[in-house]
Amino acid sequence: MKNVLIIGSTGQIGSELTMKLRSIYTNGNIVAGYIPGAEPKGELKESGPSALVDITNPQQIADAVEKYQIDTIYNLAALLSAVAEAKPQLAWKIGVGGLFNTLEVAREKRCAVFTPSSIGSFGPETPKDKTPQDTIRNPRTMYGVTKVTGEMLSDYYFRHFGVDTRSVRFPGLISYVTPPGGGTTDYAVDIYYAAAKGEKFLCPIAAGTFMDMMYMPDALRAAIEIMEADPSKFIHRNSFNIASMSFDPEIIYHKIKEYRPDFQMEYQVDPLRQSIAESWPNSLDDTCAREEWGWKPEYDLDAMTRDMLDKLSARFGKQQ
Ligand SMILES: NC(=O)c1ccc[n+]([C@@H]2O[C@H](COP(=O)([O-])OP(=O)(O)OC[C@H]3O[C@@H](n4cnc5c(N)ncnc54)[C@H](O)[C@@H]3O)[C@@H](O)[C@H]2O)c1
Repeated sequence: MKNVLIIGSTGQIGSELTMKLRSIYTNGNIVAGYIPGAEPKGELKESGPSALVDITNPQQIADAVEKYQIDTIYNLAALLSAVAEAKPQLAWKIGVGGLFNTLEVAREKRCAVFTPSSIGSFGPETPKDKTPQDTIRNPRTMYGVTKVTGEMLSDYYFRHFGVDTRSVRFPGLISYVTPPGGGTTDYAVDIYYAAAKGEKFLCPIAAGTFMDMMYMPDALRAAIEIMEADPSKFIHRNSFNIASMSFDPEIIYHKIKEYRPDFQMEYQVDPLRQSIAESWPNSLDDTCAREEWGWKPEYDLDAMTRDMLDKLSARFGKQQ
C-alpha cells in the first residue's frame, strides 16, 4: 500500500499521473492536491480524495500528509519557463520556497519526495549535444534557476536529513489530456492540436532549434519507476537526465504530414521562447538513468505521432 500526495495535481503531468497512481496503488490514498481556481474536475475529482494544498503554505502540506498518512509526495507545483520569466518572484516562491516547505514536512513526517527538474536546468555554456549527466548547469532563466536550486536542495535534504528525494530532468512533454502550462516546448503539443483540427499551425520556435521531447506515457513511467527503484544502485538522485527523442519544428512537421498530407505550418517566432530554447540542450545523454535504475523509453516520434493524431482526431471528430 502507498499513500501519495500529488501537489499540483491538476496540471499537464499531475492530471495524468494522479490517475495512473490510482490505477496502480488501488488500496492507498492517492490525494490530488490543488489550489483555488485549479480544482480537480470529472474523473480526477470522482476517483479519489483531494485536498487544498498551496505549496507556499506549509501547514496545508502538513495537514494533508497527516490526514492521509502520506508516505510519498509528488511535488509538481511550478510556473513553467515562459510564465516564470513574466513572474520571476512568484516562480521562486513556488519553485524554491514551496519545495523547501515540502522537504521540511517530508523530513518531519518521513516522506519520500519526487520533484521534477527539467532540461531548463542547463544553460548556454552546457555541452549542447548528448548533454552529460554531470556537467555545467548555468541557466539564464528564473525557471532554470529554480530547477538547479531545487536539485541541490533536494540532494542536501537527502545527505543531511536522510529524506528520500529522487528526481528526473524532464524534456518537453507531449500529451493529449491536459494542455501544457506555458513552457518553451508547448509548440510540440499545440502542433498536434492544429493538425487534428485541420488548422494551419503558426510555429513560435524557429526551424533548426532542436530540443529533447518525450511522450507523456514514458514520462509517467519514469516518475513512478524512479520512486519504485532499489536505491542501492543510485550514484545520483537529483536529478537524472532522461531522454527519448529530439527534434526541431521541421522534423515534427514532416512527421505529421506523413499522416496528414494537407497539414500546413508557418513560422511566427516568439522571441522569448526562442531565446530560452536556444539556451537549452539539443539532446540529453541518459546513460546514468539507464544504468542506475533501468530507465528505458518506449515511444519514438513515429509512435507518438500516430497516437497523438488518433486520440485528438477522435476528440475533434476529424478522423482520417
Ligand atoms: N510539462 C513539461 O513539459 C515539463 C517539462 C519539464 C519539467 N516539468 C516540470 O514538471 C512539473 C509539473 O509540470 P506541469 O507541466 O504539470 O505544469 P502545469 O503548469 O501544467 O501544472 C502545474 C500545477 O501546479 C499548480 N500550482 C501552481 N501554483 C501552485 C501553488 N502555489 N501550490 C500548489 N500548486 C500550485 C497548478 O495549479 C498546476 O496544477 C513542474 O515542476 C515542471 O517544471 C514539466
